[in-house]
Amino acid sequence: MTIPQERILILDFGSQYTPLIARRIREQHVYCEIHPYDMPESQIKAFAPKGIILSGGPETVTLESTPRAPKIVFELGCPVLGICYGMQTMAEQLGGKVVACSNREFGYAHAQITEPTELLKEITDKKGNPYLDVWMSHGDHVEQVPPEFIIILNTPNTPIAGMADPKRNFYALQFHPEVTHTQQGKEILERFVDKICDCRPSWTAHNILEHEIAEIKQKVGEEKVLLALSGGVDSTVLAALLHKAIGKQLLCVFVNTGLLRTTDKDSAIQALADDMNISVVKIDASDRFLKALGGITDPEEKRKAIGNLFVEIFEAESTKHPDIAWLAQGTIYSDVIESAGTTTQKAHAIKSHHNVGGLPDTLKLKLLEPLRELFKDEVCQLGLELGLPPELVYKHPFPGPGLAIRVLGEVTPKNIDLVRKADVILQEELRKHNHYDKISQAFCVFLPVKSVGVIGDARQYAPIIAIRAIETIDFMTARWAHLPYALLETISNRIINEVAGISRVVYDVSGKPPATIEWE
Ligand code: XMP
Repeated sequence: MTIPQERILILDFGSQYTPLIARRIREQHVYCEIHPYDMPESQIKAFAPKGIILSGGPETVTLESTPRAPKIVFELGCPVLGICYGMQTMAEQLGGKVVACSNREFGYAHAQITEPTELLKEITDKKGNPYLDVWMSHGDHVEQVPPEFIIILNTPNTPIAGMADPKRNFYALQFHPEVTHTQQGKEILERFVDKICDCRPSWTAHNILEHEIAEIKQKVGEEKVLLALSGGVDSTVLAALLHKAIGKQLLCVFVNTGLLRTTDKDSAIQALADDMNISVVKIDASDRFLKALGGITDPEEKRKAIGNLFVEIFEAESTKHPDIAWLAQGTIYSDVIESAGTTTQKAHAIKSHHNVGGLPDTLKLKLLEPLRELFKDEVCQLGLELGLPPELVYKHPFPGPGLAIRVLGEVTPKNIDLVRKADVILQEELRKHNHYDKISQAFCVFLPVKSVGVIGDARQYAPIIAIRAIETIDFMTARWAHLPYALLETISNRIINEVAGISRVVYDVSGKPPATIEWE
């Protein structure tokens, strides 16, 4: 087992941003884990953190019944950073006072550093002044710091926006350094991890690979594993990883759902089968998926129907191979988080990703999800480390339920065909104009709303294609890509001219949040 000894523990009080704290720490190549705030004291001790971060959360410490950090957090002698609710519970538990704000503070704030301490030392605004542009989201605030603490930061609305007890290495911030809206947030977290907790950057792709291989070997032993290959990056990386860890004990199955883009199945399977010599069983189930989706318009219902059919198919396939004991899935951390299936269970569900949520009891296989704790970019690094070609590793992600969630309303062969054809044009033009690699994900969405147009001299009353293109690092938040107008014009003209049955093309200019990346 090669998990680095220098690791950070994040205790989750239920903030939607908690995964971003982990994201920011892992970006520094420092290992960290998120656990529920009520992690047993014995487990906290055994984890032996070099530092602890207390996350934000939706509750208020002004009520006695709400969450508190285990006492041991403040007794271990390691540095502690409280963020938002984490700051408030630190204040309350160590003898300070927290009250409800008369004016709640959400959004940007301009904060002044009054005492830099080790946490904010050398951090300034662009002009070199001791100011921070921070993202606030709180209803309560600290009115009085605990004994031994000093105030390190204020904003016009929040006189105690940060506090510290430098002797004990306790620090706390009312704002969220983990969100990219806080301009100097990354630097602040880096200082905490590097300068205060003294963690070296040892969580590298090589290290992750060693760790994963050891874990898989130990878990699986001599048993056989069935892997559901989707054609996407995650399951392709997983196939390469499992192949390296257990070789011939792996059997890959690729199901053609009929919901893929034209290129997905070819490139991934070719790389695995031809270049890595992994055997792949192909099953064509496109008719079954279409039938299962018939009449369904609700996004969650679609996901369920697809998930259930996948399980059914794998169940049937596994009975052909009685020596198989495990079903491997390429679930990654953001799938888990967005389904609120985090190990902590403290956040609210956004949408259910079909590959999260366990397996029915009827499936006699054990579930193996080695990528479950990894973020997307860690999965990509792992793919490169395993020798997969960069163009495969860095291709835009494609969701498990495929085009079914990009055809709004009922999924019919005709509508899938339209969105697929439009998508080919979009991808071609993005690559041709060197924009594919500059953005994180782009795709077409079929809208079952008709609008009027004129093709030649004839009136056309036909559905619409929406284009979604985004830039993001972690897919948890995203900005719509500011593609050049000329490029959008070319794409739009081509789709309307070449895809018969589309009257209009629109561009999605919504950020995440509040909009999600996929439309369903
Ligand atoms: P959302 O729409 O949740 O998308 O903002 C975030 C990222 O996840 C992908 N996505 C999925 N991937 N199964 C998957 O494997 C799913 O059900 C699913 N839904 C969304 C989406 O394409 C984006 O990259």
